[in-house]
Amino acid sequence: MGRIVYVNGEYLPEEEAKISVFDRGFLFADGIYEVSSVIEGKPIDNAAHIARMHRSLGELRMEAPVSDDELLAIQAEVIQRNDLKEGLVYWQVTRGAADRDFNFPEGATPSLVMFTQTKTLLDSSAAKTGISVISQPDIRWLRRDIKTVQLLAAALAKQAAKDAGAGDAWLVEDGFVTEGSSNNAYIVTKQGTIVTRQLSNDILPGITRASVLRLAREAQMRVEERPFTIEEAQDAAEAFYTSASSFVMPVVRIDGVEIGDGAPGPVATRLREIYIEAARAQVGG
Ligand code: PDD
Repeated sequence: MGRIVYVNGEYLPEEEAKISVFDRGFLFADGIYEVSSVIEGKPIDNAAHIARMHRSLGELRMEAPVSDDELLAIQAEVIQRNDLKEGLVYWQVTRGAADRDFNFPEGATPSLVMFTQTKTLLDSSAAKTGISVISQPDIRWLRRDIKTVQLLAAALAKQAAKDAGAGDAWLVEDGFVTEGSSNNAYIVTKQGTIVTRQLSNDILPGITRASVLRLAREAQMRVEERPFTIEEAQDAAEAFYTSASSFVMPVVRIDGVEIGDGAPGPVATRLREIYIEAARAQVGG
């Protein structure tokens, strides 16, 4: 792959980029992360991702490893060194390395890792056909509003989806969809209202969600923030999900049931267009 990865002050070839076996991210999943999409070499909605990083750090009583200006400079450097035009920039902060002990270590230095991934975001083939999802029980912890690196439940749900020939999983708790395994979930009712679960500790406050809802309201679309069931989704006019890595992604099948006519619907298609327009405007493209 040959990438250059940032690890605690150094830019290293990925084979040489290493973290201690005593890092609490490795031993306890004691860390948080962020993913910003990159278009034309520039991170999108980046200030909001950095703000959410600070919120996650605060909830876990962790220090920021670098200032925001330093973080921006590191992002620009990894993007430039990897010649990334379109894709993702991932960064992770853990509580650092210390002898294994559940209690927070005294004076450990937080660890910061950052790398890029190339991904076709704008001309995504999945967005043209739409994605099939399956439902899976939401077995995650109760603070899903914190973007922690403990992603085993999401990995299990995504693998179950893959094993079933589907593209992703929507998670269900007490009969209602919480969110997707790594995205926020929406339906469009037959009356044209966009419905997505309200923010709480039950879901991640998606940065793309915030942008898309703002753009939808600006475009005079109706938005309702409330929980919905898989049955309501299967009977809806449209379904879709949002994330930094997929923007707005139409969902065309849920647990084998076609949504609408089984093709991406007009609302999801329009929201994808206006989100991309707004993202391009951010990078001056
Ligand atoms: N996932 N919900 C969950 C559980 C997520 O993991 C994500 C993001 C989202 C969408 O958040 P945002 O719009 O800020 O990307 C919602 C990232 C992309 C990931 O894990 O790769």
